[in-house]
Amino acid sequence: MSALARLLLLVLLAFAGCQREERSFRADPVATESIEKVALVPLSPGPSGPVTDTSGKGKEYENNAYHLAQGKTLYKWMNCNGCHANGGGGSGPALIDDLWIYGGSIENIVQTIREGRPNGMPSFRGKIPDDQIWQIAGFVRSMSGNVPKDAAPGRDDALHPRPAENRTPEFPPVSGGAPPPR
Ligand code: HEC
Repeated sequence: MSALARLLLLVLLAFAGCQREERSFRADPVATESIEKVALVPLSPGPSGPVTDTSGKGKEYENNAYHLAQGKTLYKWMNCNGCHANGGGGSGPALIDDLWIYGGSIENIVQTIREGRPNGMPSFRGKIPDDQIWQIAGFVRSMSGNVPKDAAPGRDDALHPRPAENRTPEFPPVSGGAPPPR
């Protein structure tokens, strides 16, 4: 085989492995009832601890740079920072540490955002399309370094309030227990 043919073959083989990633730029409209097919965890703070869903949908969102970047934008657009600031916490708990009252897996966080939590976390069910809730939840995990570094957002468009997510050390989630009584 000539050198040229060999080169051509190599290029063809290199591209054979490529698969176009599908991105949906138009989110499904918000349905009154969740259109989510994945059965998520029941509410279970306290001694039993949060249950982890194993559907695999979480991985799709956690490992994808596009979804994490979208989540970062939506976190601001939905005013999560109004209560959680840039992750350090305000009237809502900190999201950049390892402590999770309601579980730190992406499924638990989706559940927190969609259903709300009793001590003041509003429910976004019917207000944010499901896919965008998954995107925000993935981004929330990136704030404590729990997504791959090569997929995490690298910079802010404005000032950096803290190190970019791809430079955040990883804090594996631990149970923060029930919230303190108010
Ligand atoms: C009106 C204020 C407010 C807004 C807006 C708000 N939160 Fe919260 N959030 C809270 C409070 C208060 C809690 C604690 C609830 C509890 O302890 O029951 C909380 C809890 C949480 C938790 C659980 C933390 C843990 O330790 O388990 C997550 C995750 C979270 N919020 C993410 C978000 C995201 C993402 C958004 C935007 C889509 C958002 N929040 C918007 C007030 C808010």
